[in-house]
Amino acid sequence: MQTLTLLNPMDMHLHLREGAMLEGVLPYTAQIFSAAVVMPNLTTPITNTALAKDYQKQILSLCAPSSFKPLMTLFITESLNLQELQEAKKAGIKILKLYPKGATTGSEGGVKEILSDNTLQVFQYAQDLGFILSIHGESNGFSLEREYEFLPIFEHIAQNFPKLQTIIEHLSDARSLDMVEKYPNLYATLTLHHISMSLDDVLGKGLNPHHFCKPILKTKKDQQALLQAALNAHPKVSFGSDSAPHLESAKLTANGAAGIFAAPILLPALATLFEEHNALENLQTFISQRAIENYHLTDFPQKSITLSRKPFVIPERIMTPLGAVIPLWAGKTLNWSL
Ligand code: NCD
Ligand code: ZN
Repeated sequence: MQTLTLLNPMDMHLHLREGAMLEGVLPYTAQIFSAAVVMPNLTTPITNTALAKDYQKQILSLCAPSSFKPLMTLFITESLNLQELQEAKKAGIKILKLYPKGATTGSEGGVKEILSDNTLQVFQYAQDLGFILSIHGESNGFSLEREYEFLPIFEHIAQNFPKLQTIIEHLSDARSLDMVEKYPNLYATLTLHHISMSLDDVLGKGLNPHHFCKPILKTKKDQQALLQAALNAHPKVSFGSDSAPHLESAKLTANGAAGIFAAPILLPALATLFEEHNALENLQTFISQRAIENYHLTDFPQKSITLSRKPFVIPERIMTPLGAVIPLWAGKTLNWSL
């Protein structure tokens, strides 16, 4: 049987949640990926080093610590100060995550005014200390234009903090790719769902809450441009799943939660997609090498994951101690399995 071996897969944007949900979802990543960037948007956001260390301990207590490295992040607030940043650096935290206030799940404590004096000061410290700045870049305007409307902020940061490595997280709009190409210090992560689906998959054949996420899926043209960047393993783009589990009940209420739980299917789905586009030979670079280069990763558990070319039927639901979570493409069959 045909097989495909991937070395050290990296997921550079991941929501692991906490408590019982963490327990339920962590194995899907920790058993497969060497490292993952763990998002800080918990109910109590990870706004300081003490919280980050606690959270890291929680994660490591639930997996084999020698085989998975959680890369911790700090949630930026307007009061983040130099001392706190120095402490974070000492603790090995390399990434700061900026959420505009209210832009997405768990961002109520985020930054209200991105270019305020306070926030610019945080960026200055971040640049001086060599942090990576990851941003959920969306305005509060019309859904489909939110990322585009945010681009001037990326441009301002790119121009004024040329040594601050800044990442457009879950890039969803083709126009953002142009911005990444324009500035040497701008990078991006891409999700599986944004490179393989468009807005039609959310509302074109009835409303599908399991395809609802922030930023919202865009046009076919956007999807095609993003897919090409992934298939070609664009040098400034790393894979980041943005796997974001919500209970089935939370997805199905009137105020449907934003977030797609992709962790259980990532490698089989990427292998299927890359094979369909005759780009299987670039998957290793996209899934691992770009993250290693772009995040300067030197020390991580070595993993070798072999996939087989046999059908994998995605489970209809994944049970966690809290209840069911519906994985992306539940019930569908992929061409590759773990
Ligand atoms: C994420 C979540 O649920 O935490 N939701 C999402 O739609 N992507 C938050 C985020 O990354 O925006
Ligand atoms: Zn996210």
